[in-house]
Amino acid sequence: MRINPETVDRIKQSADIVEVVGDFVSLKKKGANYSACCPFHNEKTPSFNVNPVRQIYKCFGCGAAGDSIKFIMDIDGVGYGEALRYLADKYQIEIEEEEVTDEEAARQNARDSLYIILNYAKNYYQQQLTENEEGQAIGLSYFRERGFTKDILNKFELGYSLEQWDGLTKSALAKGYSAEVIEKAGLLIHKEGSRSSGYDRFRGRVIFPIHSVAGKVIAFGARILKADKSQPKYLNSPETEVYHKGEVLYGIFQAKNAIRQQESCYLVEGYTDVLSLHQAGIENVVASSGTALTVEQIKLIARFTSNITILYDGDIAGVKAALRGLDLVLEEGLNVNVVLFPDGDDPDSYVRKVGAETFKTYIRSASQDFIAFKTKTLLQDAGNDPFKRAEVISEMVQSIVKIPDAIKRQVFFQRTADMMGVDEQMLISEGNKYIRKQQKQKPAERGRNPGFQQDLQDAGVGSPSHPFEDGPPPNLFDPGFEESAPASQTRSPLYFQEEAFIRLLVLHGCRELEPDITVCSYVLGEIDGIEFEEPIFAQLLLLFRENHSRNIVLETDYFVHHRDADIRNLAIEWVTEKYELSSLWKDKFEIFVPFETDVLDKTAFINILRLKKAFVENKMNICLQQLKQGSYEADEIALMKEFIFYKGISMAAAKELGRVVG
Ligand code: CTP
Ligand code: MN
Repeated sequence: MRINPETVDRIKQSADIVEVVGDFVSLKKKGANYSACCPFHNEKTPSFNVNPVRQIYKCFGCGAAGDSIKFIMDIDGVGYGEALRYLADKYQIEIEEEEVTDEEAARQNARDSLYIILNYAKNYYQQQLTENEEGQAIGLSYFRERGFTKDILNKFELGYSLEQWDGLTKSALAKGYSAEVIEKAGLLIHKEGSRSSGYDRFRGRVIFPIHSVAGKVIAFGARILKADKSQPKYLNSPETEVYHKGEVLYGIFQAKNAIRQQESCYLVEGYTDVLSLHQAGIENVVASSGTALTVEQIKLIARFTSNITILYDGDIAGVKAALRGLDLVLEEGLNVNVVLFPDGDDPDSYVRKVGAETFKTYIRSASQDFIAFKTKTLLQDAGNDPFKRAEVISEMVQSIVKIPDAIKRQVFFQRTADMMGVDEQMLISEGNKYIRKQQKQKPAERGRNPGFQQDLQDAGVGSPSHPFEDGPPPNLFDPGFEESAPASQTRSPLYFQEEAFIRLLVLHGCRELEPDITVCSYVLGEIDGIEFEEPIFAQLLLLFRENHSRNIVLETDYFVHHRDADIRNLAIEWVTEKYELSSLWKDKFEIFVPFETDVLDKTAFINILRLKKAFVENKMNICLQQLKQGSYEADEIALMKEFIFYKGISMAAAKELGRVVG
């Protein structure tokens, strides 16, 4: 099932950006708009703006921007559909869904039925814990003994599975759930070909439901309470249609708000670490649940903060697991710190022992940045062996080159050089070597090291994964290199002219220059026959042309709420930069900034002339290049004629511009 377009429209029309955002941050009215400190990045002075007329928000600090739906997607870390459902719920709009393909519908239904049975199971286990005699005597008293309060048991919806073969299955079957669904949810184990009806996966264990970011139960972890060496301490749900172990973090649903507020996330290993820290009032904590970290898990954290502190046991396995996780975190551009606990303690036992305040103090003092941590650990292993020390250097360099931020990279090179007592320049040139080697590798050979998904048990330091996922890696140390190729460096004057032009159409296309002559029709007429080079502008121009031929002039809001994110972001950028920046300046410096619309007809005219000029100059350049390459004589003459033709237009445009601008 898919939410039908009419419902989507109704939601979009009902949702008010001020109300929607207002549920999460406190907005202050400022002129026609509202402002606040940005919920997406840390700041002391508000640069987050909400525009009720356009129904959009935009942060001038971090660039976050969008409409109500986008806001919910980002603040809650949910997808489009989930955000729509949230808004439908808030505005009490009944969601009408429409049939999609049978296959899609079947898959959706299958997923829904898994969510439903998982939720049923969660309730069942909770009930066994609190109401059943065995559950109380064994499960509840176990949790009590460990000092967990009722609040924590409720918050994490902990439960107990009875010491029976089919307690859950029987109860679910009686409620009408099918054995097939119970099995698909990972709750029932049924051996293929076996005549028996199977047995419950979780028996005689306390139950930790695992929630999705949005709070749905998607799996369970279950801890044994007996001392039975033949059984694993924890049993977990298998991979199912709704549970992909490598993409989930235990506690993310309960932690996400705190993570956002504190702007940091603690990453621990175990379920009980999460519970104990919560109980101590430290709520920005999630667990990797005993597996080595995956990129997906890190990206999940990165939706809410870029600061991660890894809290691991001080034992060797823990240290090595942490090492393995770290390079991944670096590649995602996050800031990583590591805290190791005194021998024999994990965050759970330590916070119990010393209390929340001392715990926090300890974290502050024992916290090391990734480089310090990794260098120290590797150096300890290497001792005085010069060959091993050389290996450490190369290992460290390979980690550092994964950091996408140039300034941070530089700091880390400095620090590592200091710690190792080597020349910084030497490290940098090692880094260059490593990158060149990477560049030579065929793209097909590159890709992530699959090893990092293995379990903690076989965690080793391992060879580092390849840092660049797509395209050949740039040389990070070339003077001219900057990451993510800031487009402005490669953008031609033509790009800016095309942008200025489309911007004018998007912002003011509907305005009338004279009665019955809109900016749009005037402008389109003037540039008849010109095509744009930049794909997105070409696409927008085509949109204007097609609609114009049907006498429709597209309005700004059409673009601001466009479903294509690139178009939407451009439009929001254009809408906000002038109006809202100018009002910010006005507030700050009491400067009057004239609205573009005041001088619109002149602007439109200048833009057209500039565009024309840039367009023909680009054509002239192409002619020149072709001439230089040397072609047949006939071509040469044609090219020269073309060149002179464009030159004429360019000169006329320049003259006209001089007149208008002057
Ligand atoms: N784990 C697992 N399977 C195991 C052992 C551990 O999935 N056989 C995961 C669990 O998520 C567990 C985490 O690894 O929470 C850390 O394991 P461990 O330190 O052994 O457990 P604790 O969380 O400390 O649990 P407890 O304090 O109850 O012993
Ligand atoms: Mn423990």
